[in-house]
Amino acid sequence: MTSSTKRKVLITGGAGFIGSHLVRRMVNRYPEYEIFNLDALTYAGNLANLKDIESQPNYHFIRADINDFKQILELFKTHVFDGVIHLAAESHVDRSITDPLAFVHTNVLGTMHLLYAAKQVWGKNFEDKRFYQVSTDEVYGSLGDTGLFREDTPYDPRSPYSASKASADHFVRAYFHTYHMPVVLSNCSNNYGPYQFPEKLIPLVINNILHRRNLPVYGDGTNIRDWLWVEDHAEAIDEIFHRGITGETYNIGGNNEMQNIELVRLLCDITDRALGRPEGQSRELITFVKDRPGHDQRYAIDASKIKKDLGWEPRTVPEEGFGKTVEWYLKNESWLKAVTSGAYMKYYEKHYTS
Ligand code: NAD
Ligand code: TYD
Repeated sequence: MTSSTKRKVLITGGAGFIGSHLVRRMVNRYPEYEIFNLDALTYAGNLANLKDIESQPNYHFIRADINDFKQILELFKTHVFDGVIHLAAESHVDRSITDPLAFVHTNVLGTMHLLYAAKQVWGKNFEDKRFYQVSTDEVYGSLGDTGLFREDTPYDPRSPYSASKASADHFVRAYFHTYHMPVVLSNCSNNYGPYQFPEKLIPLVINNILHRRNLPVYGDGTNIRDWLWVEDHAEAIDEIFHRGITGETYNIGGNNEMQNIELVRLLCDITDRALGRPEGQSRELITFVKDRPGHDQRYAIDASKIKKDLGWEPRTVPEEGFGKTVEWYLKNESWLKAVTSGAYMKYYEKHYTS
């Protein structure tokens, strides 16, 4: 295959947490593809996440903002991408509470810009084309003590973040029904692992333990999330992109429900052991703080469809995954330092001390 006939895959948000793991996987596994990583490099995007693959011949970085339709259309015209895997988003629930409009711009309008540009350039000939929307389980709302989110669970988003993702998902499905664009979607539970921006619970807790700062647990800490090792998510996306049925949605989960307080205690213990600190020392840093407004109580995924149809299930057991995660952040303190300098501390002070 010559380079001019290589399959061109656009990955948006590839400099972020999940995106960087996906880009690395796709670049390494598919030398016969051209992988284009389009990212605006917001506070959450960091090219240092991709240092190891940046000089691979099938990797290309494009700095662009999905809010800039003119630029997005030009890029589609220039490259005529065959596949789009769309991850670029404002992704933090707390930020969506203080700045909801930014979430409408990027998550709703930005997604529309990609769909609109793809349709203009692809026309009606969708042969070998695919638009993949990477979404979240948060669109399904909040569960009580029982039940699981299935693919047919009605959408019931409750935060500006999840409302913006839900809205984008609806537009993606509208493009399938109205224009027959070959789309596929997935809704995944909470991811964890290397390169996650430390505004999210797990890296925030590890970073605070390192600096002996308080560990802020919202409300009473009984909220439940289902945690998935990020590389397992990247594998699921790869499977769905290649083998998922057009028009279908796949739920992805970790089969790993934990209360926040239980998780924070576990991270304290793993980190103390790794740092050689006395047992129980970091648990003393745990501080219950004001709850997040509208805090969803429980997320839990029924991931039987992807297992049955595509044979995917999480590979990484929690003990292994949380251990590897702590180890990575401790080994990569310079990464943590770089991303938590400047603007991060301002955000932190504003969010946690006001
Ligand atoms: P992230 O915040 O770490 O990364 C988002 C990336 O998008 C960053 O690189 C950022 O620079 C880029 N970006 C933001 N706005 C942009 C814009 N206007 N134009 C171009 N690029 C822009 O997010 P993440 O945690 O890696 O999540 C990636 C995707 O996966 C999101 O769509 C999110 O909704 C979804 N998701 C995340 C999780 C999770 O646990 N993190 C779970 C399920 C689904
Ligand atoms: P987060 O990592 O922000 O992911 P999401 O809100 O998308 O699930 O938060 C995970 C859980 O941890 C969520 O229930 C909120 C809670 N949380 C805290 O208790 N303290 C914190 O400082 C943060 C950031 C989150």
